Amino acid sequence: MVFIEVCVGSSCHLKGSPRVVEMLQEKIEKDGLEDEIILTGAFCSGRCNRIGVTITVNEEVYTGITPEGFAEFWDKTVLAAINNDQEKGYVGMSDTEKV
Ligand code: FES
Repeated sequence: MVFIEVCVGSSCHLKGSPRVVEMLQEKIEKDGLEDEIILTGAFCSGRCNRIGVTITVNEEVYTGITPEGFAEFWDKTVLAAINNDQEKGYVGMSDTEKV
């Protein structure tokens, strides 16, 4: 399971977090990844950037994500995390089953 937390703090909100959330939801649905990704919001982590939104993927923090850079973020970060999960055999398993 891949955990994605999108910052919805005021700075990230103004820099596009609602649109980035929509883009994530669209990609998750389009690619049929509902069982592999948990998408949630997060409060400000103090990593506000001059450009873009802060997103945490499996506890790794990425700053400056914009709608324009979304495709690259999706491919290099989200899909990579899913592939990493699949290599470990975690797909479709709950946290308790992974032990
Ligand atoms: S508002 Fe998003 S990191 Fe601060």
